[in-house]
Amino acid sequence: MDINNLQRENIKNLKPYSTARDEYKGQASVFLDANENGYGSPLDVNFNRYPDPLQLDLKDAISKIKGVPIENTFLGNGSDEAIDLLFRAFCEPGKDNVIILPPTYGMYEVSAGINNVEARKVNLLPNFQLDLEKIAEAIDENTKLIFICSPNNPTGNSIIRTDIETVLANFNGLVIIDEAYINYAKQRTFIQELTEYPNLVILQTFSKAWGLAALRLGMAFAARPVIDILNKVKPPYNINQATQDLALKALENIAQVNEWIKITVTERENLSEELLNLPIVKKVHASDANFILIEVIDALKTYEALVNQGIIVRDRSKVTLCEGCLRITIGTPQENEIFLAALKALNS
Ligand SMILES: Cc1ncc(COP(=O)(O)O)c(C=O)c1O
Repeated sequence: MDINNLQRENIKNLKPYSTARDEYKGQASVFLDANENGYGSPLDVNFNRYPDPLQLDLKDAISKIKGVPIENTFLGNGSDEAIDLLFRAFCEPGKDNVIILPPTYGMYEVSAGINNVEARKVNLLPNFQLDLEKIAEAIDENTKLIFICSPNNPTGNSIIRTDIETVLANFNGLVIIDEAYINYAKQRTFIQELTEYPNLVILQTFSKAWGLAALRLGMAFAARPVIDILNKVKPPYNINQATQDLALKALENIAQVNEWIKITVTERENLSEELLNLPIVKKVHASDANFILIEVIDALKTYEALVNQGIIVRDRSKVTLCEGCLRITIGTPQENEIFLAALKALNS
């Protein structure tokens, strides 16, 4: 597949913005090229200079953990930015389409709407796996992207690996595997498959296991031509200096993150078991993520009763295939205990 032919014609012809720092070679100590304030910042740290547009130090540190070369890594203002840029780079508004697989993460459809791109919906099967036949039927010559979320939000399950491989091998556009929750999964990441599939894009994020949702930092891993196109269309300084500095610091503390992942997985299994014993809980869906989807007798009533006690879960009862369901984030052991006690009280 020729990625260059997949991109929009206007993007192919686009001359990207050239930053002040792109335009000189060699050492320099006097920077009078970017209209910055040379005095410094009214803070303890200096933020007066524009940040590295390609975030090379941060990517180098990420590369050491993920094993993905820098040239195969894109960083965005959250994975939501990468999702939006994929639409802007590859989908011609009013002409091209993408395939999404409900119930799934809502931003794929919102981004499609913002970019005036048709989002073709192929529902997951009742077991929340891919309907390969219907996906094949939905693809036409204008289908540019297929979004597969694994582990899937809001269902929590991982998508069967061989099914994803079938889509990757047979689709002539980009397959985006959103691995936002991969750190909590038994299934391994698709990162090792990057060299095999030129049409594979993997999304990961610092917002979940890394505990940095407020920083807004997402990763996209893909073949070099895809990354080059994303870099061409992104805003020049999309990752601010504070985010780059703090993420670099966080990456030194992977032991803490791994500890939280371990506790969260244990808590997920314990909470799932406890919930099964409650009469108002009809079903607890198996989860590979840091949340669980449960079906209860009366979702809205349960949701409101919890809100009244200051406990907020996500009501997913109006979502395709999730009728009667609430999505519960796995909290700290103390938070989970409070939630469980409140739910038990509703039962009695
Ligand atoms: C599947 C999935 N992808 C992406 C995101 C957003 O990630 P970010 O915070 O990096 O934009 C979420 C957030 O809930 C998500 O559930």
